[in-house]
Amino acid sequence: MSGRLAVVVAALVMGSLALARSPSTHTRVPAASGNGLARTPPMGWNSWNHFSCNVSEQTIRETADAMVVTGMRDAGYRYVVIDDCWQVARDANGALVADPQRFPHGIKALADYIHSKGLLFGIYTDAGTNTCQGRPGTFGHENQDARTFAAWGVDYVKEDWCHAQRLDAPTQYAKFRDALARTGRPIVLSICEWGSNQPWEWAPRVGNLWRTTDDIEDTWSSMLDNLDQSAEHATVAGPGAWNDPDMLEVGNGGMTDEEYRAHFSLWAIMAAPLIAGNDLRDMSAPTIATLTNREVIAVDQDSLGAQGILVWERPPELQVWAKPLRDGARAIALLNRSSAVARITAYFSRAGLRTDSAQVRDLWSHKDLGKFGRQFVSAVPAHGVVLIRATPVR
Ligand code: GLA
Repeated sequence: MSGRLAVVVAALVMGSLALARSPSTHTRVPAASGNGLARTPPMGWNSWNHFSCNVSEQTIRETADAMVVTGMRDAGYRYVVIDDCWQVARDANGALVADPQRFPHGIKALADYIHSKGLLFGIYTDAGTNTCQGRPGTFGHENQDARTFAAWGVDYVKEDWCHAQRLDAPTQYAKFRDALARTGRPIVLSICEWGSNQPWEWAPRVGNLWRTTDDIEDTWSSMLDNLDQSAEHATVAGPGAWNDPDMLEVGNGGMTDEEYRAHFSLWAIMAAPLIAGNDLRDMSAPTIATLTNREVIAVDQDSLGAQGILVWERPPELQVWAKPLRDGARAIALLNRSSAVARITAYFSRAGLRTDSAQVRDLWSHKDLGKFGRQFVSAVPAHGVVLIRATPVR
C-alpha cells in the first residue's frame, strides 16, 4: 500500500472510530510522560527561527511585552522559549552559566519578568555533550540541569540531539524526563531529535512533544515536507503528547501571506504545537491576523486532541485534510499545493461525517456559508488553503 493510500485508509478508519464513540465518553490514556501538562498542543514563541544565536535578555523581554500588546497572549500563546546560545560554560560546581554579556541579570530575573506578564518561560538544552551551536550540553548533568532550570522558574525545556551520536535516544530522554519530575516543578519536555530515532514509537511516554522532521525552512516546499512527514504518525498524537512538525515561520518573510495562512491552517489541522518563530516586535497586520485567528487556534486546541489527516487527494497537488473535533464537527482544509487557482471538492463522508448535510463556516473569512449537502466545493488560491468547520445537521 502506498504511503498516501495508507493515510487515506487510516482516515476512513479514524472517521468511523470517531463516530462510534460519543464525544462525552471519549477517553484517551493519559500520556505516560506523566506530568499532566500540554493537554492541548503547547502555544508560544521560540527565538531560533528568527534570531538563531543572536539572543539576549533585552530581545526576550521585548518579545514578552509584544506577546501581550499584540493580543497573542490573550489568543492563547503562553511559552516564551530561549533556544540555543544563551549558555556559555559550566561553573566550578558544574552548573550551567548564562552569557553574562547578553543576559546581565541572569536567567532567573528574566523568568520572573516573563511570569509577571502572565506568561510561561522555556529554555533549551541538548541531550548530548554539546548543543548544536557547541555550547555545553546536558549529558552527564541531567539531574543538576533539571534542578537549575526548576530553580530559575523554567516551565518548558526543549532538549536537542546534537553531539549525541553514540547515545540511545529513548534512554537519554527518559533520564531527563525523570530528572525534571524529581524537581517537583511542572515542566513541559520538548524532544528534538528530528524524527531520527522513530520517536513516535517511544516519545509519547517520555515527552509532551517530539519533532518528527528536520528543521523547517521559511519556504513553501519545506513547510509541505514537514506536513507530509508529520502526517505519517497522526495516530500516536493526543492530549499530553504531540507530533511536532517544527516551529512556525509565519511572518519571517520567506512565504506570502497566503502561504502563511496555509501553514498556520495545516499546523492547526495537525494539532501541532503553535510556537511562533518570528519577530513579535515587528509584525505586519496580516501576520498578527494570522497568528491570532482564534477560530483556527480553536481547531488546533480542540480538547479531543485528534491529529487531522489527509482524507482525499488528486495527486500531486490538490488535497483535503480533516480533523475530528470534540463536538462531532470536522475542521476541513482544502489545500492547493499548485501554483494556479483550483477548484477542490471536500466530500463530507471522506472527512468522516456521516450526514446528508452540514453547516459550513469559513474560518478565515469568519462567515457562516450555510448548509451544504454531502460536499463543499470551493475555489482555492494557488499555494493556499480554504479552511472550514463542517457541523453535521442532525
Ligand atoms: C537544531 C534544532 C533547531 C534549533 C537548533 C539550535 O537544529 O533542530 O530547532 O534548536 O538546533 O542550534
